[in-house]
Amino acid sequence: MTTQRWRRRAYGVALLAAATFVFAACADNSEHEQNGLEPHGPVARKQLDLLTPWVVVAAVIGIAVVSATVFFALKYRERPGNENPKQIHGHSGLEITWTIIPAVIMVAMAVPTVSLIWELDKKPADALEVTVYGKQWWWEYQYTNLDTVSADIDYQVNTANELHIPAGRPVYLTLRSTNVIHSFWVPSLAGKKDVTPGRDNHMWLEADPEEAGKVFYGQCAEYCGLSHADMRLRVVVDSPEDFAAWVESQHEVWSEERVAQAADLGITTTWGCTACHYLGGVDPAVDTDITDTDAKTGENARFGPNLTHLADRSSFAGAKYDLYDENGNPDVDALTNWIWHAPERKPAQCNKPVAASGTRCVGMPNFEKSGMTQADAAAIARFLLELDQ
Ligand code: CUA
Repeated sequence: MTTQRWRRRAYGVALLAAATFVFAACADNSEHEQNGLEPHGPVARKQLDLLTPWVVVAAVIGIAVVSATVFFALKYRERPGNENPKQIHGHSGLEITWTIIPAVIMVAMAVPTVSLIWELDKKPADALEVTVYGKQWWWEYQYTNLDTVSADIDYQVNTANELHIPAGRPVYLTLRSTNVIHSFWVPSLAGKKDVTPGRDNHMWLEADPEEAGKVFYGQCAEYCGLSHADMRLRVVVDSPEDFAAWVESQHEVWSEERVAQAADLGITTTWGCTACHYLGGVDPAVDTDITDTDAKTGENARFGPNLTHLADRSSFAGAKYDLYDENGNPDVDALTNWIWHAPERKPAQCNKPVAASGTRCVGMPNFEKSGMTQADAAAIARFLLELDQ
């Protein structure tokens, strides 16, 4: 080979190495990072502990195979005087050896893997139970055994996108979908699991006690349509006291005054938000049972998130946008734009006015096309953020 070709190759390798460092520098080092290599709870830690030794074994085998390939390719390359090496095709001893060694490695891998699968498949004792509904394109959470938080709690709590969990307590999730296949994934707390229609899947996760006050990010990990990439989620880890307080706050419904204001703003009248969203206090019949209706069949299932306590969350639109800026001030403009013309803020299958006939809408309709003015949208945004008009 000519020197020039070698030089070109050397440049290529150098470029690749440089790119590796540049891309590695792009890694998110924030405390929210979605990084299964930095576990913050027992489930993620057990999964990582299972993975790590086998990555080492795989790396050793990989390096050995590639090195041997390069070594022999160079040693026996075509050149004057270089004879063919001794042929070993059909050598029984060698063939048995390289069949048995991988088989032994596979068995050695299978034993701890299968036993961890079985271990994590068991419902932990004293778990908080949450049913997770994968929606297009957001997450709904229904807390079903809050009487284990306090004996006098006889209600369930329903919220969206941001899962509050008490630090140091296992949380057992029932994963359910009424539409397509999603996958629930919070890398720092647990590996992913599919959320499939027609079948309940289960998983559990837990955050270490010292993680109280932290927020971990996650996302849908199974392609589920147009806004799959925007089907994000956050797990808010509370101290047990903060969690109990949060549960209580989520049970409160709007005052009569607030319900009247919602009607004046068109929320429960002109714009018909209750067709998709639960708004506590508006309909007492719904307040008594806020579970997702017929969740297994998908019939009458709720299309949009519970907005009663939207201002308590840190994000909206499937956790795509922050509700507050870094100084803690509410981002009224962001929420206004979302309410006014949501399909331009997040791809949806329905960039149409509300109640357009003959269309199956997935996602927020376009209220700008429905005759809503920007001022209308801003007033609704301020109302949902619990600000003065
Ligand atoms: Cu839900 Cu991807």
